[in-house]
Amino acid sequence: METSTPGSALSTGPRRSDVRDLFPALGTTDIYLDSAATTQKPRPVIETVTDYHRRATANAGRGSYPWSSRLATRITEIRAHTATFVGSAHPDEIVFTSGATAALNAVALCWALPELRDGDQILFNPLDHASNVLPWHHLRTLLARTGRRIDLVPYRTTPQGTADIDDIAAATGPRTRLVTVAHLHHVYGGLTDVARLRASLPPETLLCVDCSQSGGHVPVDVRTLGADFAVFAAHKMFGTPGTGVLYCARRVHDRLLPFLPGGDTGVRLTAAGLESTGMPRLLEGGTPNIPGILALGSALEVLDSLDRRVIAEHNRGLTRRVVDRLRPIRGIRFLPGPAHTVTGTISPGYGIVSFTLDGIGSQDLGFVLAEHGFLVRTGAHCVRPPEPDAAGDSVRVSTQIYTTVEEVDRFTACVASIAEEIT
Ligand SMILES: Cc1ncc(COP(=O)(O)O)c(C=O)c1O
Repeated sequence: METSTPGSALSTGPRRSDVRDLFPALGTTDIYLDSAATTQKPRPVIETVTDYHRRATANAGRGSYPWSSRLATRITEIRAHTATFVGSAHPDEIVFTSGATAALNAVALCWALPELRDGDQILFNPLDHASNVLPWHHLRTLLARTGRRIDLVPYRTTPQGTADIDDIAAATGPRTRLVTVAHLHHVYGGLTDVARLRASLPPETLLCVDCSQSGGHVPVDVRTLGADFAVFAAHKMFGTPGTGVLYCARRVHDRLLPFLPGGDTGVRLTAAGLESTGMPRLLEGGTPNIPGILALGSALEVLDSLDRRVIAEHNRGLTRRVVDRLRPIRGIRFLPGPAHTVTGTISPGYGIVSFTLDGIGSQDLGFVLAEHGFLVRTGAHCVRPPEPDAAGDSVRVSTQIYTTVEEVDRFTACVASIAEEIT
């Protein structure tokens, strides 16, 4: 299975066989090309989850016995590690959630709901994942019930699959309170230059960055990006489903309402109502997803050891190869993304390419590919634009550090032979 690409991390990173061995589910004949949906799990993550259930299951910090206090200590350590991992200087900026969807809804309900006034605006991309679109529509409905009318202003996507920063800058005005943006787009695979976007915005406009796809694929530093909020999906970063992270910059802490008031929430009950006792607990509540957070801790250690720069370089090489090999196939049409050139040069990709093939619907193509053992995602990929046909169905191929050149070559050869059969 070992093949190397000159200039790619395939030849310079960790040994391919060592990487593959880390992910036990990859030992089958099926070829997994759906890492944007969820990544495979490395052995340390699997062992961490199993150990929690098998050896010392307890509720974290709720008992005075060692099993419980050790878990509380470990969660504190993982919070600190997560802060470092995303570039935050303060662990109190790190909130554990049930996923990126919950984290984005927390921004809408805990910051925007109390904060926005009649006539305020949020800028968003209608072609982003529904989790970064619907919470803002839900917010607008909730605010309308209390007589506040806010505007949701859509902005464009570039042919390279990134947020159109010029369009955002042109649409930003004194009433723009928040711009929400995908870092790495989950269908198009374009990586938006968020630091440049931040520089184009007034300092008082807040910036929310959906790092669900970038978190495990490229180094992310929330301070370099200039994010006020950033969300991460642990299951797309070698962790387990039901765990996510909300980074919430200190500058907004005093403007937040609690998210899930209940056991262990950072609030005090006063005659006037709930009063904050501080972050990050203000946005947490109830028994946390303990095995999920422990798994996240192990996942971050694996990502650190593999090095996200190496992961990014590996996926850049694979993306180029997918595009180069699909491009000559008759009937292939690429969605926006790394297949589209910027002034003559191919824009870099980070492991996501989406396309259609003339003569066969994407769902059907997905079935045929699955019959040949290629596991890809088909459909609209949770994009819900206002005009239902605007997004359209496509096939999305997505890779990670464990994906090999040979797998990608077999996949593109399979698409080529299907294309030949149907023309
Ligand atoms: C860009 C993006 N945002 C948000 C989400 C939702 O993440 P979660 O499953 O953690 O709620 C996804 C998941 O597919 C995604 O790709």
